[in-house]
Amino acid sequence: MDTKVVVIDREKPEAADIALLNEAAQVLQSGGLVAFPTETVYGLGANGLDDEAARKIYAAKGRPSDNPLILHISAVEELTPLVRAVPETARKLMDAFWPGPLTMIFEKSGIVPDSTTGGLDTVAVRMPSDPIASRLIALAGIPVAAPSANLSGRPSPTTAQHVVEDMSGRIEMILDGGPVGIGVESTIVDVTGPVPMLLRPGAVTMEMLRDVAGEVSVDPAVAGPVAADVKPKAPGMKYRHYAPKAELVLVEDGGDIGEAAGTDGVRRIEKAAEKADGGHASGAGRAVIDTINRLTEERLAEGHRVGILCTDETKACYPAGIVRSVGLRTSQETIARSLFAVLREFDSLGVDYIYSESFARDHLGQAIMNRLTKAAGYRVIRCGEER
Ligand code: TXA
Ligand code: MG
Repeated sequence: MDTKVVVIDREKPEAADIALLNEAAQVLQSGGLVAFPTETVYGLGANGLDDEAARKIYAAKGRPSDNPLILHISAVEELTPLVRAVPETARKLMDAFWPGPLTMIFEKSGIVPDSTTGGLDTVAVRMPSDPIASRLIALAGIPVAAPSANLSGRPSPTTAQHVVEDMSGRIEMILDGGPVGIGVESTIVDVTGPVPMLLRPGAVTMEMLRDVAGEVSVDPAVAGPVAADVKPKAPGMKYRHYAPKAELVLVEDGGDIGEAAGTDGVRRIEKAAEKADGGHASGAGRAVIDTINRLTEERLAEGHRVGILCTDETKACYPAGIVRSVGLRTSQETIARSLFAVLREFDSLGVDYIYSESFARDHLGQAIMNRLTKAAGYRVIRCGEER
């Protein structure tokens, strides 16, 4: 199949852009696949009410068919036919965060096919704010099922070029709207129970959710590896996602810091960091830099290629290896935006090992660390503790 790649002006669409959006909408209506930008990552869209079309998504991605898809809508009214009920908390969260990077899990109505929900009796729905996504969905006039537009197991695409790498020849059309703004996938909240539950952290942060909804619980799969016999509530959380080809290892400060020490340890290092540079510095102390440099030397001596994932503040501290900054430690937004692109770049450079600094876990940091620890397959070295 030939994949048509077209550039669309996100801010000021002209007649030519609208004509291309209409063409893409027709592809969706006739059961085809179109990749398009959203504010979080690029999505791979199909008619979410068409069993056959939704199945094509799994085939194109090489995705296990028990991993359900998110339905994307362009207006709040489009939610009603898809769900059995809209709980009060969901209304509050919609008012606060739609359109935007929040997905909610509802009990599904009869019109949503099993292929979209992976056989579950719940359905994930989100209303994206990206104008290209929103216009495309409105023109198509159907809920658009869209996972991230990457091959299953690869980091999510944040540019159209990433989508071309993974999907060329597999889908009808790719809409290039430039790089995305956020860079990590939407926050997922299950609103079917009495207390809303966070299933995947994203740019609508835990702090923001609690401000609006009060009590919010967290699925244990968010924080750490789930045992083989435990079923995470978001089936996608059990797969080794966002994985680069190299072995990624996260390096954290101090033997008493991090998950093992619980939040107290994390808070202590964040306090120290605040003094040092105004916050968000957790994980980039001298010990981390020294450990990464030593491990890099060891791997290089063995003849391996080594990537180092760091920030603008520390990139000059690493004399060897392929050094890439993900942004400014003092601005979590910059880190989220370029994280997946840097992991993909390491893939294309063919590195065997990636040593990564770690980051504060508050606000957007919860999503950043969730993606990083999953990409690392939960390999975390705490300085002073390793080997
Ligand atoms: O930002 C995003 O959400 C992007 C853009 C394209 O909108 N989409 C995205 O889709 O990340 P995907 O398929 O890569 O991730 C969807 C996640 C998976 O972990 C899946 O298991 C979970 O949502 N999910 C979908 N339906 C669910 C349901 N009914 N119950 C629990 N989890 C569900
Ligand atoms: Mg995905």
